[in-house]
Amino acid sequence: MKIYIIYIVCLFKIGLAVAQTDKYNLYKTIPLVQDIKEKQGQSFVLSSDVKIYYPKNDENLKQTAVFLSEYIKLSNGLQLIVSVSAPKGKGIVLQNSYKNENKEAYNFSVTENQILINGASSAGTFYGVQLLRKVLLENETKSQIKLPAVEITDYPRFAYRGMHLDVARHFASVEFVKKYIDLLALHNINTFHWHLTDDQGWRVEIKKYPKLTQIGAFRNETQVGKQTGVYDGKPHGGFYTQEQIKEVVAYAQNRFITIIPEIDLPGHMVAALASYPELGCVGKGYEVYKKWGVSDDVLCIGNEQTFTFLERVFSELIPLFPSKYFHIGGDECPKKRWEKCPKCQAKIIELGLKKDSHHSAEEKLQSYCMSRIEKFLNAKGKQVIGWDEILEGGIAPNATIMSWRSAQAGVDAVKQGHKAIMTPSSHVYFDYYQSTDAASEPLAIGGFTNIERVYSFEPIPNGLTENEKKLIIGAQANIWREYINTEAQTEYMVLPRLAALSEVVWTNADKKNYGDFLNRLSDFLKIYDKLNYNYAKHILEVSPEYIVDTENGQLILNLKTSSKSPIYYTLDGAEPTIKSKKYTESIIINAAVTVKAAVISQNYPSKVFTKKFEFNKATAKPIVLKNEPVERYRFNGGKTLVDGRTGTTAFSTGDWIALYKDDFEATIDLKSVQQVTEVSMNTFTSPNDWIFGPKQFHVFVSTDGINFTQVHSEDLKIAEKGDGPKITNLKAIFASQEGRYVKIKAPIFEKIPEWHYSAGQPTFLFVDEITIK
Ligand code: ACM
Ligand code: ZN
Repeated sequence: MKIYIIYIVCLFKIGLAVAQTDKYNLYKTIPLVQDIKEKQGQSFVLSSDVKIYYPKNDENLKQTAVFLSEYIKLSNGLQLIVSVSAPKGKGIVLQNSYKNENKEAYNFSVTENQILINGASSAGTFYGVQLLRKVLLENETKSQIKLPAVEITDYPRFAYRGMHLDVARHFASVEFVKKYIDLLALHNINTFHWHLTDDQGWRVEIKKYPKLTQIGAFRNETQVGKQTGVYDGKPHGGFYTQEQIKEVVAYAQNRFITIIPEIDLPGHMVAALASYPELGCVGKGYEVYKKWGVSDDVLCIGNEQTFTFLERVFSELIPLFPSKYFHIGGDECPKKRWEKCPKCQAKIIELGLKKDSHHSAEEKLQSYCMSRIEKFLNAKGKQVIGWDEILEGGIAPNATIMSWRSAQAGVDAVKQGHKAIMTPSSHVYFDYYQSTDAASEPLAIGGFTNIERVYSFEPIPNGLTENEKKLIIGAQANIWREYINTEAQTEYMVLPRLAALSEVVWTNADKKNYGDFLNRLSDFLKIYDKLNYNYAKHILEVSPEYIVDTENGQLILNLKTSSKSPIYYTLDGAEPTIKSKKYTESIIINAAVTVKAAVISQNYPSKVFTKKFEFNKATAKPIVLKNEPVERYRFNGGKTLVDGRTGTTAFSTGDWIALYKDDFEATIDLKSVQQVTEVSMNTFTSPNDWIFGPKQFHVFVSTDGINFTQVHSEDLKIAEKGDGPKITNLKAIFASQEGRYVKIKAPIFEKIPEWHYSAGQPTFLFVDEITIK
């Protein structure tokens, strides 16, 4: 084994590049404020004689003043008096008379005698108070904190700054929901999307339909892991009474957070069907769903009782939620039952719905359902939000789209004059893995969204006119809790990714800088510690950067961290210690090796990073793909297949690439004529994720790159119903051939098979590491 080292000066120590020199850095927390101006004069010294003032008869600012006194008690141990009298002596003055069109803007002005926080509304003042709170928490070790004279003007980039919580898959207590709302306030998030109902549980009391919570709020047991067929035998459930809902809504209102309730319809309704079976097309045999995935059982649209039910449910929810928006779901609604249901088919005929080149009659039936509910809610003064599937079959006239499968739905919506909220799973699904080392993470739904990816998210897609851009009202991150059943794990998945989201939705894009953000984040983490939130520590651990150097036929591994402590590593499989080699320069790999590395400091021994590299004739050799992988799973393109790293079932972490609607074809140049006798390639299948393997596997060898001889051909079967995620090694073994070029062709299955809930849609084809012997 030969490992060469080259020297690169600290280039990869991200986060350290921006020096913390100027005195205003104190005010640079998260999200970064829009504008900081120097001011002459002495600093304001926070001490016990400081009073907090709010305008007389202003209950909102009184509440905010009380919050501020609690924050200061926690950060500095001072018990400041809250008062309405006109400021005399030193004070923190809260006002809401700042002139600004952006009602959440505020002015934050510090002089020797006064901190004046003046919002364009009380919400603006609240964000100014959050700024002060964060500055104090980050600097709490200083006994007598001095705040330099300053003039800060701040305002959010987007009016809609959302965070979602799924309490249907796993229930969350009122106490935890409040702690979660506190967390949103800390990050200047102003909208809490509360996903209250789903197949696995109905979580809100509806007086007219008591069985929704007597039956629908509980399941007998829960699937263990992923499609294992094993259940835990433990009942799970819970719901919120209407009194509790009011309590949580008021709690959020005090923190200037609007709660948008979601009743997900007409799919994701099994818990309701188990309670009232007559609302389903089949009419019987339902139980609260115990497993994950999408159920074929949905509300029957041909049955008028369904609409009576929905209208009564919303009629009880409307007085509880002052929000202008109500979320009515619309995602992942299979049309299978409707195709067979006499009532639904009769409704299709009655409404004259006809299949056209874009949409089936059943898709139009869903559209009818969404529009009818929209009309009902509009008449009660509410606007609806729906997941992007509601574009299929025709969008309800006034609906706002929540664009989750891609950014494209948001583009389509605004081009039709609708508002959109961007929540693409590619960037802001916080149930996805946040590390490429999925094996060391708690089991997650899949995907890969690390903090850097969240930070890189730009909510306004390219190619929109100025008017269309205005229709993108903001962005939101979602957290689905199939695999998240504790409060600690919820916090771990949300933090610190929420810090990145906070800056995406608050700070203007031209002021964002990831290195600078990481620097500020390492101070911000102290706040999570102080407030007892459980957060993921990846940024303090070893983070790898992989380079495939096809020019020199070698792999390059760079190790980075935002920690101020050094990285140590080993190449012999041993655990790294302070006696191991200290990382100072890139690691060059040209033979099979396992690298283990850790950030080691006295008080923080990080998790060990472990990566095994294979090496064969194909590794780090030039590779050309005929068709580009789909953007979302493109990663390092063809080089991903010759990078020495073998992908696991965590398919979105960069080890796999995927084709969509295109066949896979790759040609590898071994750089010299060699004997070749075996060619293999991995493929990953996971029907639940629309991922099916190739339908054939062909291998060709050539000495000149022009004339190829086929050495292997094989037909492959499509996955069957019930198949879980699986890696298959496709292998061609043949009589030894002379060759310099190896070509692999693996055509894609054009359509998802009939048994699947997305039957007929295109499939994804995932491929990884090619081995040539
Ligand atoms: C969704 O993630 N099903 C909206
Ligand atoms: Zn029906």
